[in-house]
Amino acid sequence: MNILLKNIKQLIGITDDSSIIKRGKAQGEVGTIDNAYLVVRNHTIESFGPMSECPEMNMDSHDCAGRLVMPMYVDSHTHMIFAESRSGEMSQRLHGKTYQEIAESGGGILNSAAKLRSLSEQQLYDAAQERIGNAIKQGTGAIEIKSGYGLTIEDEMKMLRVIRILKQLSPTPIKATFLGAHALPEEFKNNKDVYMHLVCNEMLPRIAGEGLADYIDIFCETGYFSLDDLKHVIEAGEKHGLKAKVHVNQFSSFGAVKMACEMGALSVDHLEVMNNDDYSALANSNTIATGLPLCSLFLDIPYTPGRQLIDKNIPLAIASDFNPGSAPSSNLNLAFGLACSQMKLTPEEAFNALTYNAAFAMEVQDEVGSIQIGKKANLIITKPANGLADIPYWFGESMIGSVLI
Ligand code: NIG
Ligand code: FE
Repeated sequence: MNILLKNIKQLIGITDDSSIIKRGKAQGEVGTIDNAYLVVRNHTIESFGPMSECPEMNMDSHDCAGRLVMPMYVDSHTHMIFAESRSGEMSQRLHGKTYQEIAESGGGILNSAAKLRSLSEQQLYDAAQERIGNAIKQGTGAIEIKSGYGLTIEDEMKMLRVIRILKQLSPTPIKATFLGAHALPEEFKNNKDVYMHLVCNEMLPRIAGEGLADYIDIFCETGYFSLDDLKHVIEAGEKHGLKAKVHVNQFSSFGAVKMACEMGALSVDHLEVMNNDDYSALANSNTIATGLPLCSLFLDIPYTPGRQLIDKNIPLAIASDFNPGSAPSSNLNLAFGLACSQMKLTPEEAFNALTYNAAFAMEVQDEVGSIQIGKKANLIITKPANGLADIPYWFGESMIGSVLI
């Protein structure tokens, strides 16, 4: 696509280099140009600048008067492939059951796994494609997708093959994460070590052998997988060339952040429950902290302490966690609002967490996540707006006018 966007009220998220993640003070710095133009050629950002320097172009143009233009969000943590809703769990929760209690009584991840096993690749693909289309309309322009609802070799590979097809056919960059250690299947209830062996020594070699995954993940949590399991999964991933992006500290803190950071994880995600050791481990590492505010809202659990993380110079990304159990929403506009009102981020900090930093959390920072010459022109054109703060301010609403992808 070739197009000239002109009279842009404000062009937001400009960078001239994407080699360093934003942390501390830089997390709140956003490059902008008022009254700007931007040229898209071959789906790529070719040039931009103030309208006073807008070149005469022989191409279609679009008047963006009164509107903001910014990079699309990057969703670095989703479980986009699943069979169906678990809306029945909501009323259980309203009657006082916790996420963990629902899982123990036959709901939760194992319930999703049972349903997914009966669906074909085509059925899963169709459902996921629709969800991706919906996310794109809400401003998401790159997506990480996890397996983890298969929990057998065949079904984990089935999920990852669906992601591979999505990678080929979707207009957004997509990354695949193998999450075999998501929950312990019923048949291994008293044999966790056997299941872990299956994940690390049977599933992973086949999956990596076919190039089906970019990353490895584990749900390290009381009642799910232990520190030892975390260590084995990260080591096994390393052996097969997969970096780790891990679920830690959603409900409890017991050393997983430290271990993941020391073992070089790309990101540690959730972090609703944090202690001092967790902060120091992150501050002394290159691991990215990822907050998932839609999960906190939906489960009514604490929000990731985004303010503290930024104040401690830890790079923060924000993602949706879109999944049928703890975050049935891919709406990053709402996440933006919550990042400000609940996690106490400034609009600029939240914006960087949802775009530039999130791109690092799925290693697509050379392609997307900011307005930079040569990057993909995956752009949001807002409705008429005063400035960036309008997006989190109109929380639960959408300021997306249109997207260019
Ligand atoms: O990130 N916590 C583990 N995994 C997902 C929830 C999965 C589910 O409930 O289906 C999460 O919250
Ligand atoms: Fe998750």
